[in-house]
Amino acid sequence: MDADKRRQLRDAFGAFMTGVTVVTTTGDHGQPLGFTANSFSSVSLEPPLLLVSIDKRSANFAQFTGCGHFAINVLAEQQKETSNIFAQKIEDRFALIDWHPAASGAPLIDGSSAWFDCRLHQVVDAGDHAILIGEVGAFGSSGTAGLGYYRGAYFTPFHNAESLITNPEVVVSALIESNGRAVMVRQQDGGYALPARTVGGQGVSDTLAALTRDLSLNASPGFVYSIYDERPKNRQHIVFLCALPTDAAEAQPPLHQAEWYPLSNLAGLPIADSALKSLMNRFVREHAVGNYAIYYGDEQRGSLKHFAG
Ligand SMILES: Cc1cc2nc3c(=O)[nH]c(=O)nc-3n(C[C@H](O)[C@H](O)[C@H](O)COP(=O)(O)O)c2cc1C
Repeated sequence: MDADKRRQLRDAFGAFMTGVTVVTTTGDHGQPLGFTANSFSSVSLEPPLLLVSIDKRSANFAQFTGCGHFAINVLAEQQKETSNIFAQKIEDRFALIDWHPAASGAPLIDGSSAWFDCRLHQVVDAGDHAILIGEVGAFGSSGTAGLGYYRGAYFTPFHNAESLITNPEVVVSALIESNGRAVMVRQQDGGYALPARTVGGQGVSDTLAALTRDLSLNASPGFVYSIYDERPKNRQHIVFLCALPTDAAEAQPPLHQAEWYPLSNLAGLPIADSALKSLMNRFVREHAVGNYAIYYGDEQRGSLKHFAG
């Protein structure tokens, strides 16, 4: 293939949006090794398998294809620099980050969005790459938003949304679901609403952190689920989908002044705010099919933009 065609193919591959991972193992002398990869994919649940492809020109190709174990670190939004460190020729990449060994010994990068500790299950030769297939022995997910990669550039869904919000009259709400239940807060009038707070001078991130802390929940904000204006009060509402860590001891940890409400009963719940009522009904429908959309508009009219859940 000539150079032009090759570049076009790379660009076309780049149209596929991915996350970013760092693949790690230990070398022959016990030294930590790792490289940045976006070719990661989940493969099978039973048995639990995943794959990543490694370039045959990689300095550690022989070590990875001959390793007993390796780990996948799914980078969080704040870890762009980590991605760059593991994609550049740097002598001791691990000296620049915080990490600890997994049970297998493979390095786990602190602050990652998720990690998988794997036994090397199979190596498939594939052109100028080899596919490493790993069997997952242990894993964890912190619930923090992952770093995205699209057409050769990083993207950060939560931080982008956060930086666009400058109006102090913004009310942020957290839509937190776990095992078919959502966190709802009982109001003084007996009705229900999502946990919500006015942003004020604090910034969106800190407001959401305070909100989930007040609920005694370790939840992290991810995508924007809905943005709408409450025109009579000149207020903007932004609802963030939030995720819990998968290794939380309980799927629905006890809440402070809030309830885990079953989605199947939500239709009968008294929700005074009509915009919130229709948002929750939409969430119940979309949750059933696992395909969420973002709503833009005001409390009466708006449009939905779909993204895969
Ligand atoms: C976002 C991103 C994704 C990448 N994905 C892969 C990949 O899937 N497989 C791969 O072998 N290299 C991938 N690379 C390139 C390697 O990270 C890079 O070549 C690195 O320097 C390899 O290091 P090494 O030669 O020390 O192993 C990617 C780089 C970036 C920035």
